[in-house]
Amino acid sequence: MHIRLADAEDDAALLALFHDSIYALGPEYYQPEELQAWAPKGQAPDWQKWRRRLEPLVTLTAWNDESLLGFLSYELDGHIDFLYTSPQAARRGVATTLLRQAEQELQEHGIDAFFTEASRVAKPFFAHHGYRVEAEEWLERDGVCLRRFRMRK
Ligand SMILES: CC(C)(COP(=O)(O)OP(=O)(O)OC[C@H]1O[C@@H](n2cnc3c(N)ncnc32)[C@H](O)[C@@H]1OP(=O)(O)O)[C@@H](O)C(=O)NCCC(=O)NCCS
Repeated sequence: MHIRLADAEDDAALLALFHDSIYALGPEYYQPEELQAWAPKGQAPDWQKWRRRLEPLVTLTAWNDESLLGFLSYELDGHIDFLYTSPQAARRGVATTLLRQAEQELQEHGIDAFFTEASRVAKPFFAHHGYRVEAEEWLERDGVCLRRFRMRK
């Protein structure tokens, strides 16, 4: 596995993995209408929106040769934003490798407190890495409420 920074040419691969991950790993924790609100299917991708979302973030990508295994996006205030692993690569340490690198890079910027809004899928992962739940949140999207957890380390 090798890690590199994402660039705009990776946008399509990142969006495809985002969808695959949610629809393969999410159903155990979320209802179909919740998954649809999280990652709308059946409509043309809004590339400008996706680019605007990624633009202010530092995005690390994990690869096996040409195959994208996962990605993580963070902000320089310690916020861990996106974290998605390809379903084919789940539970093989991809997200762990990305999170460790992000935390190390943040520490190099003098940040030693990290926070995220974890999905129900990701909550055990972040707990495994020492993050503690601060609050439960309900995110409203397209009229659907998604349960998630504000977690901090
Ligand atoms: C959460 C997610 C990123 C974890 O990715 P991953 O690469 O499979 O995670 P890792 O292999 O590094 O897991 C490390 C440890 O975290 C814990 N963990 C990870 N996924 C878990 C799960 N589904 N249930 C329970 N524990 C889990 C385990 O302790 C695991 O160690 P183990 O496999 O030796 O038991 C992945 O499940 C995912 O992409 N989920 C769907 C999208 C999502 O919810 N993203 C987060 C948005 S906030």
